[in-house]
Amino acid sequence: MIQEKIKKIYKVKVSRIEKVSSNSHLIEIDLPFEIDIKAGQFISIYCNGLTLRRPFSVYYHSGNKIGILFKERGKGTSYIKSLRTGDLIDITGPLGNGFNIKNKKSLLIGAGIGVAPMAFLKSELDKRGIENLFACGFLNKNEIPNNINIDKIYTDDGSYGETGSVLNYTERLINQFKPEIIYTCGPYIVLKTIAKTAQEYGIEVQVAMEKVMACGIGICRGCVIDVKKEGKIVNATVCKDGPVFSGSEVVWQ
Ligand SMILES: Cc1cc2nc3c(=O)[nH]c(=O)nc-3n(C[C@H](O)[C@H](O)[C@H](O)COP(=O)(O)OP(=O)(O)OC[C@H]3O[C@@H](n4cnc5c(N)ncnc54)[C@H](O)[C@@H]3O)c2cc1C
Ligand code: FES
Repeated sequence: MIQEKIKKIYKVKVSRIEKVSSNSHLIEIDLPFEIDIKAGQFISIYCNGLTLRRPFSVYYHSGNKIGILFKERGKGTSYIKSLRTGDLIDITGPLGNGFNIKNKKSLLIGAGIGVAPMAFLKSELDKRGIENLFACGFLNKNEIPNNINIDKIYTDDGSYGETGSVLNYTERLINQFKPEIIYTCGPYIVLKTIAKTAQEYGIEVQVAMEKVMACGIGICRGCVIDVKKEGKIVNATVCKDGPVFSGSEVVWQ
C-alpha cells in the first residue's frame, strides 16, 4: 500500500512562476504524463531540505499542466517562490478525496487563498454544464488574483465589489441564488459558519478543510479531526479521508 502511494512521487518541471496578486503567486508545473485530478485534491511539494512536504490545493489542471496558487508564509513557500521556469521539483499527488460533484445548482464560496480549489471546481462544473455561482471574499482588491473567473467579489475594505466579509452575504446569496448544494474553502471560521448556515437552510454543504500536515498520506495521524459517523464521533485524517468533508459530519470546535 505504501509502495502504491510512493508511486505518486514525480519530478516535474516548473513551466511558469509569477506573482498574481499582492500576496499570492502562481506556479505551473508540467507533469510527465496526464493524470486524473479531482477539484479539491492537493499535491505536496518537497521544499529543498525541509523534512515535511508542503500541501497545496490544485488551482487548475489542464492536460499535463497543474497550477498552484500560493501565499508566502514561511520557509517552504519562500523556497517555492524562489523557483524559476525550468527548475525541477519533487511533488506527490494527487492526494486526498476531492469534492464529490453533484448535478445540482451549486453555490461556491471561497475566502482568501481558499479561492484556489474553488476556481478549479468552478471550471469542472462549467465543463459539465452545472449551473453555479462562485462568490469569494478578500481583504482588499490587491489580493484578487489576476485572470480569475469569479462571479461575485467581496472585500473587507470595500476596495472592490461589495464591502465586508463574504460571511455577511451568505444568507443573501442563498436567498437570491437558491442553491441546492454549497461547496466552500477558506479559514476554519468561514467553513464553520457556512456549514451552520447551510444546515439551517437544509442545504447540503461540502467543506475543504486545512490542517498542518506531516506525512500527507494518512499514516502519521497528525492531521486528524473529529467527525460524526453512524451516531458516533470518530477521527478522520484531513489528508486522506479529506480534505473535503460533508459540513454536517464535521464536529466543529
Ligand atoms: C489540503 C491543504 C491545501 C492547501 N492549499 C493551499 C493553497 O492552495 N495555497 C496556499 O497558499 N496554501 C495552501 N495550504 C497551506 C500551505 O500548505 C501552507 O501555507 C504551507 O505549508 C506553509 O509552509 P511554509 O513552510 O511556507 O510555512 P511554515 O513555516 O510551515 O508555517 C508558517 C505559518 O503558516 C502556518 N501554516 C503552515 N501550514 C499550514 C496549514 N496547512 N494550514 C494553515 N496554516 C498553516 C503555520 O502555523 C505558521 O504560522 C494548504 C494546506 C492544506 C492542508
Ligand atoms: S498528515 Fe499524516 S495522517 Fe495526515
